Amino acid sequence: METYSCAQRWTIAPSLAKSYCPIMSDPILVAESKEQIFLLPKMANRHGLIAGATGTGKTVTLQTLAENFSARGVPVFMADVKADLAGLSQPGGNNPKILERAKELKIDNFTGEASPVVFWDVFGEQGHPVRATISEMGPLLLGRLLELNDTQEGVLNIVFKIADENGLLLLDLKDLRSMLQYIADNADKFKTHYGNISAASAGAIQRNLLALESQGADKFFGEPALNLKLVFFFDEAHLLFAGIAPAVGQKIEQMVRLIRSKGVGVYFVSQNPLDIPDVVLGQLGNRVQHALRAFTPRDQKAVKAAAETFRQNPKLKVETVLTQLAVGEALVSMLDESGSPQIVERAKIVPPRSQVGAITADQRKEIIASSIIAGHYEKAIDRESAYEILQARTGEKAQAVGAPPVAASPAAPEGEKPSLLAEALGTATAAFQPTIGPRGGRYDSLATSMVKSAMRAASNSIGRQIARGILGGILGGSGRRR
Ligand SMILES: Nc1ncnc2c1ncn2[C@@H]1O[C@H](COP(=O)(O)OP(=O)(O)OP(=O)(O)O)[C@@H](O)[C@H]1O
Ligand SMILES: [Mg+2]
Repeated sequence: METYSCAQRWTIAPSLAKSYCPIMSDPILVAESKEQIFLLPKMANRHGLIAGATGTGKTVTLQTLAENFSARGVPVFMADVKADLAGLSQPGGNNPKILERAKELKIDNFTGEASPVVFWDVFGEQGHPVRATISEMGPLLLGRLLELNDTQEGVLNIVFKIADENGLLLLDLKDLRSMLQYIADNADKFKTHYGNISAASAGAIQRNLLALESQGADKFFGEPALNLKLVFFFDEAHLLFAGIAPAVGQKIEQMVRLIRSKGVGVYFVSQNPLDIPDVVLGQLGNRVQHALRAFTPRDQKAVKAAAETFRQNPKLKVETVLTQLAVGEALVSMLDESGSPQIVERAKIVPPRSQVGAITADQRKEIIASSIIAGHYEKAIDRESAYEILQARTGEKAQAVGAPPVAASPAAPEGEKPSLLAEALGTATAAFQPTIGPRGGRYDSLATSMVKSAMRAASNSIGRQIARGILGGILGGSGRRR
């Protein structure tokens, strides 16, 4: 999902332009205790955390933040894991709890207002289709998605490098397959040029270097200063970090830190702050902690840990209050002008102006059909890339010796053992299977949600780098291999 600014609305959809039109630097009113608590837009890239037990108001808090960023011209990308964020696209105002909260907080002119939303969906069903090329994905992410072992990952890196150096575009899977075949056929030739890839230790280093290079590590965020500001929300973030290795946590921490210096904010939404690695948690400056349960020893540990992360308020017994917070109430600490966390306050979250919860299939269809990009991404294109070029080359060679042209595509003949890639693809497909949630909801798989979420940023080259980085950094370590 993607939203547009208030000002952009006048040009894109005048009917959506409303009276609530803050400018970018206007502080975002997040919550109220005795005082109003604001998130300062210039501190938005210091990231954030929204935590709390199920049903305590995390998604609604996210929605309030998202619509406020959007209204200020900050594009917001979020994975709508439970499809309950789509309400952002509709004016709210008929939810009694939300109205009651608006009244309680004496919010002036509280009117229902929709945020302009664009839906994206990798499968092109719930939104405009999002495609990423093989090369945008990068070998690291692909390697993880395909669950390759280290040796196989190395081969994949070489494929990317050779393709790059030979100007062979890796756009789709057949490009990748053709390249794999081409390199396998010419293994000896490439061995000399790319070092002795079969000698274990040298090969491992080579591969590591290649991995680093082809991920563009040094140039990663080195493009001209980023002129746009983005905010990513990862709802249900506990899924992201499940079973993660410590090294991976560090990688994410690094990524999160790099992104910050480019004006991009990342907000994790999670049930239990303990599910987020400490190194990452330490990077999340703006915090909204909803109620936690304290039934089990693990719960109690989480409560204690959450309490300790705040700058203490002498008037507040944080640990006790944490278990007593009502729905839509939270312990809130935002960063001040100088970037220091403010003293934690018990406060009520400002309600969103857009509709809370899901939308109907017809509403979604209508939004997709009337979007300014309708029709643009719907049809796949297949331009000349590695596959076509290699196929032509093979054809020329074959004709020279009088044999009929042969396709370079290594599709395994039936009955043969499926190729490594085919096997790996099977595994990758499995990673995309949706799962059934604890309350019977149909959730996207982690991989799908992540790809969906990050690929929404793929509409420009910086967005692509970010998408690649986020995916590489987060998915890159799905501890499953360990
Ligand atoms: N700030 C608020 N003001 C008024 N009502 C709220 C507020 N926050 C939450 N609620 C009410 O609580 C309900 C549940 O909130 P929400 O969906 O945000 O919970 P959650 O923490 O995201 O739960 P889950 O972990 O199940 O996703 C909302 O549908 C709404 O009715
Ligand atoms: Mg939620």
